[in-house]
Amino acid sequence: MSDVLAGRTVAGGFRLRGPHGIPAQYRPPAPPKHFVGRERELERLRPNGVTVVSGPAGVGKTALVLKWLHDHRTGDQLHVDLTVREPAEARLGRLLQALRLDGVAPADRAAAFRSIVGKRKITLVLDNASSTDQVAPFLPASGTVLVTSRAKLDLDAAHVELEPLTDESGSLAPLLDLSYVELPERQARLYRLCAWHPGTHFDVPEAAAIAGESECDVEDALDDLVEKALLTEVGDDAFRFHDLVRAHARAKRHIS
Ligand SMILES: Nc1ncnc2c1ncn2[C@@H]1O[C@H](COP(=O)(O)OP(=O)(O)O)[C@@H](O)[C@H]1O
Ligand SMILES: [Mg+2]
Repeated sequence: MSDVLAGRTVAGGFRLRGPHGIPAQYRPPAPPKHFVGRERELERLRPNGVTVVSGPAGVGKTALVLKWLHDHRTGDQLHVDLTVREPAEARLGRLLQALRLDGVAPADRAAAFRSIVGKRKITLVLDNASSTDQVAPFLPASGTVLVTSRAKLDLDAAHVELEPLTDESGSLAPLLDLSYVELPERQARLYRLCAWHPGTHFDVPEAAAIAGESECDVEDALDDLVEKALLTEVGDDAFRFHDLVRAHARAKRHIS
């Protein structure tokens, strides 16, 4: 079905090309396979308006938002990762192109983007925002916007501050076991061993030294652990365990 805006003029006379949806690279990824807890926080994300989810790196901001999106699939959803800092015009240029709106002058891009998002009632995720200024050009006048940030952004929004997960209900360990038993041996071994690294973060050479394996092999296995949500990648080639996951991994040390 062609989009209702196709062929019509929006935001000052720019034309949308052809039928379209949200291109793959801007669709939200799936939430963690074994998402646990956060019932109260999930209820606090607004189905209309702006919600800012804040908290330290690795606490579960993105996972929470992705889970909410998965549970509220009422229309198009657009996931914009703001981790890399760059001028808004450049990012907006790519976004508009992905939404098939070409040829918009840099000065008009923010307005055109906000107009499309508002008119198409796109649920917008601005992930890893560093400041209010960075977010402002993207905010439509109405609709659903979910922002994640390590900072408490000064935005007129609902604010959800995430604390580290606790395993009050005791539900996490069995879920982690489900992931753990499916691991190939190299990944399982690395999972058990790296949990004993004394720092909060470790990198590939450190993991390779702990495991007594080549950096190349270890890098692949670490990437797999990240994909399986057992490990978090923080920054350039640095990895960390969620505290509860580290405890789970350490408890496996006697199992060969
Ligand atoms: N509620 C949860 N249930 C299961 N896994 C979670 C949950 N919250 C976070 N995780 C996992 O913990 C890791 C860090 O979460 P993430 O959302 O990336 O943190 P943040 O966005 O705050 O930096 C990821 O691997 C994620 O899949
Ligand atoms: Mg995140």
